[in-house]
Amino acid sequence: MGKTYKIAVIPGDGTGPEVVAEGLKSLDAAQAKFGFTLEMTDFDFGGERYLRTGEILPAGAVDGLRRFDAIYLGAIGHPGVKPGILEKGILLRLRFELDQYINLRPVRLFPGVETPLKNKGPEQINYAVVRENTGGIYTGTGGISMKGTPHEVAVQSMVYNRHQVERCLRYAFEYARKFGKKAQGKADVNTLALVGKTNVLTYVFDLWERAFHEIGEKDYPDVKREYYHVDATCMYMVKSPEWFDVLVTSNMFGDIITDLGAETQGGMGIAAGGNINPEGVSMFEPIGGSAPKYTGKNIINPLAAICAGAMMLETLGEIEAARAIENAVRDVTATKVKSLSAGKMGYSTSQVGDMVAQRV
Ligand code: IPM
Ligand code: MN
Repeated sequence: MGKTYKIAVIPGDGTGPEVVAEGLKSLDAAQAKFGFTLEMTDFDFGGERYLRTGEILPAGAVDGLRRFDAIYLGAIGHPGVKPGILEKGILLRLRFELDQYINLRPVRLFPGVETPLKNKGPEQINYAVVRENTGGIYTGTGGISMKGTPHEVAVQSMVYNRHQVERCLRYAFEYARKFGKKAQGKADVNTLALVGKTNVLTYVFDLWERAFHEIGEKDYPDVKREYYHVDATCMYMVKSPEWFDVLVTSNMFGDIITDLGAETQGGMGIAAGGNINPEGVSMFEPIGGSAPKYTGKNIINPLAAICAGAMMLETLGEIEAARAIENAVRDVTATKVKSLSAGKMGYSTSQVGDMVAQRV
């Protein structure tokens, strides 16, 4: 008998519900084929609900979500709601309160997908970014004083403690060991690179760098260690992405470099992310947002949401099923869709969802 997993589904705003519906088709096919059960419960959190009720998340919502094995999220963001409210009130709040301290963002170019990088293909663009997800500037102390005067002062600090850094690094080493290029049969060693700014942020990244080498030397001697400055990382992501295997970095740096990474793998139509608490409830999402202008037209690309579903299965431990969905996506990008852009795929949202699910 396979396992049963309780999944909270938050379709959310804009195109979120459309892409989640397609992701669910592949998840359904996977549970039938690989013999586990996904028990889905829907939640209507998002902009519509906020506009209707005035409440961003109802009381008890976060604790309610703790009872699930994972959360499958569509998108949060509504044109009728001021920017920041839903992002902070839902997305960031769930990340913080559920202590999803890892943001895992693979950067993999699938066959047939166009990349803006010249002479680079799926062999070269194949790495993953492990972004610290609950610390740093996102929660650093700060404030504004003398606001509105010529002397006003604004402070927002990058704050990290050893515990936050260490648990993030350990996850990254484990991930590199399990899913790095050696594990994929593509290199003779798995490599983890720390991305920082040790030449300027001499306190915070000194802490990161010492912890990185101490933990690596002691507990992960089989994983090769490298270091890159974040600015240089951006350069290499464009020029020599094949140098990378697994990258680990701080919250803000990770936020920035993963948008660049997403663009090199074909854009927001395909980029998926996982907000992971390895000991708790993790949340998986396409990172493209709610795309209001494409809402309801059945033209948005659902592949990112489908890949987020695969990442959810991988994190739950259903690795074979995750690979089956990824391979189905690969086959569809290689042989079917003409472009990953909304409206230019040559198929509708639901047709793409059907084609992937059939192949699973
Ligand atoms: C992301 C987004 C969020 C972030 C925003 C919406 C708060 O950009 O998931 O990368 O900055 O983390
Ligand atoms: Mn971002």
